[in-house]
This record gives sequence, C-alpha cells and structure tokens, in this order.
Amino acid sequence: MIRSQKPHAVLPDATHDEAARQDFVAGLRVHMMREVSAGNRPLYDAKVLPAFRRTHAREPADRHEVRRAMSREPYHQAWGSLLRTTQELIWESVGSSIERQLGDLMARNRNDRAKTKGSLRLNPGLVMPRYQTATDTHVMPGSYHTDLCDGDLTAGAVYDKGLYIYAMSGLGDSNQDIGGGCIAYLKQNFPNLKPRRILEMGCTVGHSAVPFAQAYPHAEVHGIDLGAASLRYAHARAESFGAAVHFSQQNAENTDFPDGHFDLIVSHVLLHETSGTALPNIIRECRRLLAPGGVMVHCDVPQREGDAFDLAIPDWDTYNNNEPFMGRMRDTNLRDLFADCGFDRDRYFDGYVPNDALNRDKKITFRGGDGRKGKPWAVYGAAL
Ligand SMILES: C[S@@+](CC[C@H](N)C(=O)[O-])C[C@H]1O[C@@H](n2cnc3c(N)ncnc32)[C@H](O)[C@@H]1O
Repeated sequence: MIRSQKPHAVLPDATHDEAARQDFVAGLRVHMMREVSAGNRPLYDAKVLPAFRRTHAREPADRHEVRRAMSREPYHQAWGSLLRTTQELIWESVGSSIERQLGDLMARNRNDRAKTKGSLRLNPGLVMPRYQTATDTHVMPGSYHTDLCDGDLTAGAVYDKGLYIYAMSGLGDSNQDIGGGCIAYLKQNFPNLKPRRILEMGCTVGHSAVPFAQAYPHAEVHGIDLGAASLRYAHARAESFGAAVHFSQQNAENTDFPDGHFDLIVSHVLLHETSGTALPNIIRECRRLLAPGGVMVHCDVPQREGDAFDLAIPDWDTYNNNEPFMGRMRDTNLRDLFADCGFDRDRYFDGYVPNDALNRDKKITFRGGDGRKGKPWAVYGAAL
C-alpha cells in the first residue's frame, strides 16, 4: 500500500523490511477503522444507551455523557487502546526509516538545482506559540515545528509519509484530496473568482498548496507555516512537482504581508489544531489580508452531524490523540466568530466539499477527521 505514494525529490524510500512494517501499520489502521470501530455502535445501541435510559430516565444530553458512559465499557477501552497504539506505530514505522536516510534526503535537497519556480523564506527568530509546543499534535513526535539541525527535513518527511498511512492512502497518491475538495467547492460556488494572489495558512508540506497552484496557474500562491523543517520539505516537494509556491515561515496570527494582499485565503485542517486564543487571531488576520471582493475558506472536520453517539466517537481524538482543540472547534459558532473578527455576518457560508471532487477509483476515500463514518470535509468561510 505505502509504495503507491507518488514519488518526488524528497519522498523517503523504504527498504523491504521498512515497507513491510509500514504496510502492516496501514493494514492495522484499515482493520481498526472498518472492523473494530464498527463494534462501538451496536454496543451503544444494545447496552450503553438502554442502561443510561434506565438510570437517568432520559436521553443523553450531549456527546460528553455518551463518552463517559462508553468509556466504562471494556470493548470501548480495548478499541481506544488499540487505536492509540496504531497511531503511535504510524510515526514509529516511518520515523526510524527517515532517521536512516535523513542525511541523503538533505543532500539531495541541497544538490537539487532545478528549483526555480517558487521560493522559501525562513525566519529562525520566529517564536513558536505555546499551543504548538506544549503537546505533540496527534502524537507525532516533535510535532510540526521541531527543527533538529541545519537543513532538517524530518518533520515534513514524517508528516508526508505518516499522513499517507493515517489516511489509508484515501487522500490520493499525493495526499491532495482536502485541497482538491476545497478547490472543487470554490469552482462550484465562486466560478468567477480569479484570484491574483492566494494564501494557504498552515500549509505544512504543501499537500493542498500544490493543487491550488495547479488549479489557479495565473495566481501567485503563498503557503505559510510555523515549522522550518516542514517548509523546507514543502519547497523541495513543490518544485519537484513543477508547482510555483512561495513558502514562508510565519505565524498565521500575525503575518508580514500588507493589508488587502490576497484575493483568496484558504486553510485545510488548520482550525481544529489551533487554540481558543489563536483561532480568532487567525480569522482577524484573514480579514486584514483579504482584498475587497476576496474570499476566505477554511476546510476542516464537520461540526455537528449525527446524534450524540456520532459526535462522541470523534471526540476520542480530543481526549486521547493529542488533538486538544478538536472538541472546542466543533462547539464554536463560526458565524459568530467570523462576525466578531470583522466579517459581515450575512456573507458567512458553510457547506461540504462536493462528493465528485473525491477520487472514486480509490478503494478507501478518507473524508473528514474521524474517518469512521466517511463524512465529507466541511468548508467554513466568508466573502468580502
Ligand atoms: C493539519 S496541518 C495542515 C495540513 C495542510 N494544510 C494540508 O493541506 O495538508 C496543520 C498545520 O498548521 C500549522 N499551524 C498551526 N498553527 C499555526 C499558526 N498559528 N501559524 C501558522 N501555521 C500554523 C502547523 O504547523 C501544521 O503544519
């Protein structure tokens, strides 16, 4: 499975044994998502919900009551423990392989003279926000921001390979589906938008920025992120795909771009990974950076679909997978938040990426945070 990831200049390779190990972890994750996770709903319907009704003489009020009731069940505990182990194994299986070849990858990056289209601007003095350094996001060792040495590529390489396993290859051969879905939404809903400049906030290794550069070839595309190692990797990767993206190391809460510089500002799975302080700062910064007539779109997990059980299961990540802001993001009224940050309340919009944007040839389509119900990616935005 892991060998179907699209090669590029700095994609780590895998020896026979490394590939076997990574394939095992990918297979384990498929098994967890398809088979073991599926056991939670019947357990809830047949046992946990009836017991709750008997005890309280009412329905569970919210996902937190469901989560607490489920967390006392041995099956659910075993499922959670296995899921956490699977998550740790993802990073372990790619981390040791990347460590083995890091020197080669860095040398390949230094010697690659074909870099002409985009650019890379790093800021060694950038202060990392505490919400990023306090925890290893989704248990990825060192998270996105750790920079181990001069020219380091580790965080980017680990994320690129690890995400491919996490998504069970269901985001496409270059992990491009979230950006692709957002582009399809924009083409459908804003067909006349002809952006001169596009900014992706929280671009990591450019999985979405590259599709934007390809979909809007006349636009100047920028990607910003906190992590230097992610951005070095992103730059090498984008050049290798022939995409012109200008990467810079910046905090999306406070960038150095001039007012009104962008016609389109996007993010992909950034909002649910930002703190309660950072989130409004980022939206205010979007407002400052958007040109008149501009559009802001944040593509992220769906907020409130399903019953209390459906909402409780993805909350596992909030409590057990180092995604501390996931639950709060789901609870936030984004229309209110965007309005508080200077956007016109009436020009708020939300929706889902169109289904036909997703690659139907894939065996698995990974759509939206939890991966268990196959819900589509959601978009939340505002136009000026
Ligand atoms: C889930 S990843 C985004 C993935 C990427 N957008 C894609 O489409 O593949 C979240 C990224 O947001 C970045 N990030 C979080 N807070 C940020 C901030 N305040 N400013 C810039 N980047 C931030 C993290 O460093 C991380 O790389």
